[in-house]
Amino acid sequence: MPRPVASARTEIHCHLLPGIDDGARDLDDSVDMAAVAAADGTATILATPHVRSDFVTDVSILPELVAELRANLALAGVKVEVHCSGELGHELVGRLGQVELETIASGPSGRRWLLVEAPFDGLGEEFTAATGELRARGFGVVIAHPERSPGVLEGCREALGLEIERGSLLQVNQWSLTGGHGAEAEAAGLALLRQGRVAVLASDSHPGWRRPTLSVGAAAAQAAGLDAGSAALLVTDRPASLVRDGIAAPVGTGA
Ligand SMILES: [Fe+2]
Repeated sequence: MPRPVASARTEIHCHLLPGIDDGARDLDDSVDMAAVAAADGTATILATPHVRSDFVTDVSILPELVAELRANLALAGVKVEVHCSGELGHELVGRLGQVELETIASGPSGRRWLLVEAPFDGLGEEFTAATGELRARGFGVVIAHPERSPGVLEGCREALGLEIERGSLLQVNQWSLTGGHGAEAEAAGLALLRQGRVAVLASDSHPGWRRPTLSVGAAAAQAAGLDAGSAALLVTDRPASLVRDGIAAPVGTGA
């Protein structure tokens, strides 16, 4: 019986676009990061610059930047597919029109979703209201690095519980599991993982130590106690399915 072919890895959180946030500084950085990801077995990357008041506020520039990067990757022989996306700050939700949200959403029509950044001052009512608005406007929600929000398993447990109840999926940073974001994020990330609440792992890569090597995430999940197959799924089929199949259309606003 032929052995199943290992699935390619899919990265849904990566600051790959050059010069527009605290990620890749220029095209050389972008190509280097993509090459590292490709060498590690990643076939698809969602380019997710910070869409928030201190970085990108005009998302109409993103598709052209992605096209330019794709052309440069082809020239450099880096075989990785890059899609336009964004890491949305919840405070910007009410200021973006539907077309703008569509520009940074992923998934097929009717099953579109957005990557929403968990605030570094904790989940609270404003965050809950923002994700409720996104659902009301037809988008599923994937929460980026909830484990990095202080007190997410204690003071903010109720807010996180509401998100899970309303269908938000959790994306934990692989580097949290290895201690890169500090002891609290490590403990919260590991707890969410062991509770089976993590839908997907991502690198949240920036130039420097947060490399886009998803093999690290799979290894960290396995070291945390998951079997090898389940650990691998967090960086292969799960994120691939999010990109290909999206998230079932939200029902109700949860507001
Ligand atoms: Fe990020």
